[in-house]
Amino acid sequence: MTVFSRIAGTGSYLPAKVLTNRDLEGSVDTSDEWIYSRTGIRQRHVAAAHECASDLALMASRRALDAAGVGADALDLIILATTTPDMVFPSTACILQAKLGVKNCPAFDVQAVCSGFVYALTTADHFMRSGQYRNILVVGAEVYSRILDWEDRGTCVLFGDGAGAVVLQRSDKPGILATRLHADGSHAHILSVPGTVSGGKISGRPLLQMEGNAVFKFAVRVLGEVAEEVLAASGLAKDNIDWLIPHQANVRIIQATAKRLGLPMDKVITTVDLHANTSAASIPLALDVAVRDGRIRQGQHVLLEGVGGGFTWGAVAVIM
Ligand code: UT7
Repeated sequence: MTVFSRIAGTGSYLPAKVLTNRDLEGSVDTSDEWIYSRTGIRQRHVAAAHECASDLALMASRRALDAAGVGADALDLIILATTTPDMVFPSTACILQAKLGVKNCPAFDVQAVCSGFVYALTTADHFMRSGQYRNILVVGAEVYSRILDWEDRGTCVLFGDGAGAVVLQRSDKPGILATRLHADGSHAHILSVPGTVSGGKISGRPLLQMEGNAVFKFAVRVLGEVAEEVLAASGLAKDNIDWLIPHQANVRIIQATAKRLGLPMDKVITTVDLHANTSAASIPLALDVAVRDGRIRQGQHVLLEGVGGGFTWGAVAVIM
């Protein structure tokens, strides 16, 4: 019997504090008009000082587990995508496992920046297809507010904090139809946080830096290419797609991708206006919003795709 992964439940969580574009006008030389017209962003959520990626992940995971009707003790595997882990180690996935109050499953992090959730979902699907797993928790959780230079108007206006999660269940019907992942490390310099810890000190600059234009062009090209690649692999035509959920970095990148695929914007889920770019959390956050507001329904075809630092990119085609 062929084994498939089905998305049995989704969940998400946004920290309480909202930072609007107007709020940012008070701290850097920017304007709501500039940010909204260049990116589509109106506001972002920012974690409280005591909140870590694992705390946001915990809230999103509980909601996904409730939606799936699965207890945390039934999980066989936890995969968590983050670029902003709680600490160097243990992994944020292990910290999340402890916060969920369970012990008997493997747990590990995936680091693929804004493609992290697509990487984690693809990894989970391969584990599921091995036949050894029944319930896998896949999470994207980020606190980008911790790695931003709040004096750099070119980057600090673009990102936000949040988490999204899905529970994947073993099924004899799809589910996930096809997945495709890519990386090209030669573009690392156009988007990075070039710092680490060494000898008890911070070495390098542990704040996000980006060549916005270069990232923009790269993102539009590869999102178009990988969407077509995963559609071909899943045997779907563009017309079969009910919903596109692209990584939420900039509405102009999203519009360009939709145009290239010939999809009208009313088939595209966008949350970038309210969440800004939450990196590995953006796709599961958008998925959960659209599942809970009733737009995404069972049996529909959804295309998820992400691109981010590394560079990494990938896509997943799924029947809900
Ligand atoms: O998840 C993947 C990660 N990131 C992305 O996907 C982001 C991809 N890139 C982008 O979204 C866009 O390139 C940006 C939104 C970052 C920038 O938009 P742009 O249309 O490419 O603007 P630009 O970089 O060409 O900047 C135009 C001007 C510059 O001024 P000058 O040199 O023309 O005088 C910037 O200094 O806008 C200025 N600028 C700002 N002005 C007001 C840059 N940031 C701001 C700001 N407020 N926040």
